[in-house]
Amino acid sequence: MTTEPRPDDVSAPASEAAAGTSPGAPASGRFSRRAFLGAGLGGLAVGALGGAGGTAWARSDGSGSASAAASESPETAYAFYDQVHQAGIQTPQQHHAIFVSYDLTTTDASDLQVLLARWSAAISELQRGQSLGAVQPSHANAVPTDTGEAADLGPNGLTVTIGLGPGVFDHRFGLAEHKPAKFADLPQLPSDQLEKSLTGGDLSLQACAEDPQVAYHAIRDLSRMAQGTAVVRWTVMGFGRASAGKGQTTPRNLMGFKDGTRNIKDDADFQRFVWHDGVDQAWMKGGTYQVARKIQMHIENWDTDYIGDQQNVFGRSKQEGAPLSGTRELDVPDFARKGADGDPAIPATSHVALAAHENNGGLKILRRSYNFTDGMNADGQINAGLLFIAYMNDPAAFVTLQTKLGRVDRLNEYIAHVGSGVFAVPPAPVSGSYVGEALFR
Ligand code: HEM
Repeated sequence: MTTEPRPDDVSAPASEAAAGTSPGAPASGRFSRRAFLGAGLGGLAVGALGGAGGTAWARSDGSGSASAAASESPETAYAFYDQVHQAGIQTPQQHHAIFVSYDLTTTDASDLQVLLARWSAAISELQRGQSLGAVQPSHANAVPTDTGEAADLGPNGLTVTIGLGPGVFDHRFGLAEHKPAKFADLPQLPSDQLEKSLTGGDLSLQACAEDPQVAYHAIRDLSRMAQGTAVVRWTVMGFGRASAGKGQTTPRNLMGFKDGTRNIKDDADFQRFVWHDGVDQAWMKGGTYQVARKIQMHIENWDTDYIGDQQNVFGRSKQEGAPLSGTRELDVPDFARKGADGDPAIPATSHVALAAHENNGGLKILRRSYNFTDGMNADGQINAGLLFIAYMNDPAAFVTLQTKLGRVDRLNEYIAHVGSGVFAVPPAPVSGSYVGEALFR
């Protein structure tokens, strides 16, 4: 990570200057990145923002495949500008994540614009492994612009994905006409045990990286940037994706089961189930919806359960991860197959029988979840579970699946959904613009 102090007034490239209009004039709906940085970031690395969004480094998310093993090199970097989709969705899943939901404290649309633009400029820098300005300012009485804990760590595959909650389209910002018809707060769902302090939010940031300190630094400095405009509502720190070369190819959740075996992997499925076509609202073309749930696991109960029951809960074997109708992890589940007792080999109320696309009219969602653990709860039980994050082009897909799961899933005995949020994720911005810019035109 570059930590050298840089001058505040480095000229932006000509193309960038042309892309922006009057600095600090939010009503125009179009800002130069330089204007945002000048608007309050002080020493942010304006000069380093040049170039068309990352041609010089490793990967472009739009063409990546989630099935590819994530690169664990500290040098892996993802471009932010000029991609079809925001990174952190189809991107191979990194090992660590921090999810944050924010409440907007402003009612001024131009404050929201400035925040989205400053976040966009900063995320582009962070994803390249750059600092957000001086870690050690030259004046002894100057406050460091970048908090410094990610200095020299490298980009580590960092992706930061911005989402907009339903509240962005309420009476506060004059954006109601841009609200997609299918977008609203999630309804109360069966088995929900949601805590108010862990539910909702006007904005979301999902930061994922191979190094947890890199993800933490991104969230810390982006939250700092939001001061006066937004405050953190709820947050979960996640870990635990599979490590290629470390013995796990499919990650395991904290119940010890392989999780992700039948996830969306093909580009065709991403097109069909994840990416928004923009027909309803053009600004969402190439975007998607994000559903985040904090799901508590009753670990102590689970750990006393017989293996036979554990396997019937999921409909899969524990060690191999095979459907109970087969023997290998990648065997296609046969939901009609009977066991020795004449009942379905995969119980009809097992998690996979209820969630499988074969039993839901072909419906699929992208799951991009992480394990979490956070000490002990007030009752002296382990506070741990799944930070469930899913992407889909219609939030009704989650509602359909969770309505069914919440009613009869055998897993419900061992889990509780305590946190929830739904967010519209716009496509990636072009260079000179910012995430969600089209909303303000
Ligand atoms: C703590 C909560 C959860 C745990 C521990 C869990 C775990 C699992 C496991 C072990 C599998 C089988 C392996 C695989 O194909 O990935 C699976 C599959 C699946 N889960 Fe979950 N899951 C949880 C919550 C949810 C929720 C909330 C949803 C959606 C509303 C969901 C949707 C699915 C789907 C669609 C599949 C694929 C089923 C198939 O096609 O075979 N899961 N889950």
